[in-house]
Amino acid sequence: MFAKTLLRWYEENGRALPWRDTSDPYRIWVSEVILQQTRVSQGRDYYLRFIARFPNVEALAEASEDEVLRLWQGLGYYSRARNLHAAARQVMQRGGTFPHTFEELRGLRGVGDYTAAAIASFAFNEPCAAIDGNVQRVLSRIFGLAAPLDTARGKRDVVQVCKDLLPKSDAARFNSAMMDFGSLCCTPERPHCDACPFSAQCVALKDGRIKELPVRRSRPLKVQTRYFTYVFLVCADQLLLRRRPAGDIWQGLYEPLLLETTVPATLSDVIKAFPTLKRTTLQQTSLALRHQLTHRLIIAQAFCATSPLALSVEGYQPVSLAELSHYAMPQLVVRLAQQAGLAV
Ligand code: ADE
Repeated sequence: MFAKTLLRWYEENGRALPWRDTSDPYRIWVSEVILQQTRVSQGRDYYLRFIARFPNVEALAEASEDEVLRLWQGLGYYSRARNLHAAARQVMQRGGTFPHTFEELRGLRGVGDYTAAAIASFAFNEPCAAIDGNVQRVLSRIFGLAAPLDTARGKRDVVQVCKDLLPKSDAARFNSAMMDFGSLCCTPERPHCDACPFSAQCVALKDGRIKELPVRRSRPLKVQTRYFTYVFLVCADQLLLRRRPAGDIWQGLYEPLLLETTVPATLSDVIKAFPTLKRTTLQQTSLALRHQLTHRLIIAQAFCATSPLALSVEGYQPVSLAELSHYAMPQLVVRLAQQAGLAV
């Protein structure tokens, strides 16, 4: 009965989305990875550009990681792009055939239970329930599941209920319908209970607990503040950049000279860190910018330095200003560069 009601709602309200016109597992995989931490409205354009440039797994595997990251620029959570690229190479190494089952898909880099279930159901109609945050919220409310979702018990309850509801021969439509229902009707804030086909049976609505469900064990999010001072050092039409190393945010993305401090840095701190700058004309280009990431607040400022001579700084490479558009940079650096008048 649940599935029937849901699928009727989907017939009338479901969205036509570009990745729903295909049963190509590669395209479905790309769309699911993009949508993991991104809204459909933003993800759609990235998806279309990504597929236009890399129409199949072979094209993606042959690309450089730099190019993949550049296409991803602005979407955030860049490990998704690095994993996608690494997994494309994994697929090519095993002969280029995309995995066909949940179990095999689960073996790809960056593919967890949710993504494997989404691909297996959408591309191969395997009867798997794809459970993301939307689905957890919908089922928690309608069935009054009160165990916190960040506990094993809470997760297990949702999985059990969802598996029981899933029509085995119609998993793809059921999963799409759940996703749309969660993002269009049973929204996190102010859900549209007056238009909801489950309002008569919804436990959360009946008990006045819409705001309380789903439950998470409240853990105050620890936000770390980091102070970044960037210097755009331009020597003879070249900008010094480095590729960010592993083990920190923005791995593989490019940035100009960086001084990181635990309190805001002064100009003399910057010169002490990069003595070469004594030989340049230095100008502050921006007021402090605040950049919020999931667990971090970055407070950044930038300087611009120019020199007619070629200067070198260890760990940084000169990049022609005309070629900056090939380098993926964090959105924060893009904003600072634009304030400095550089076309990135
Ligand atoms: N969110 C994640 N995957 C989705 C999909 N396939 N359709 C709509 N929203 C989604």
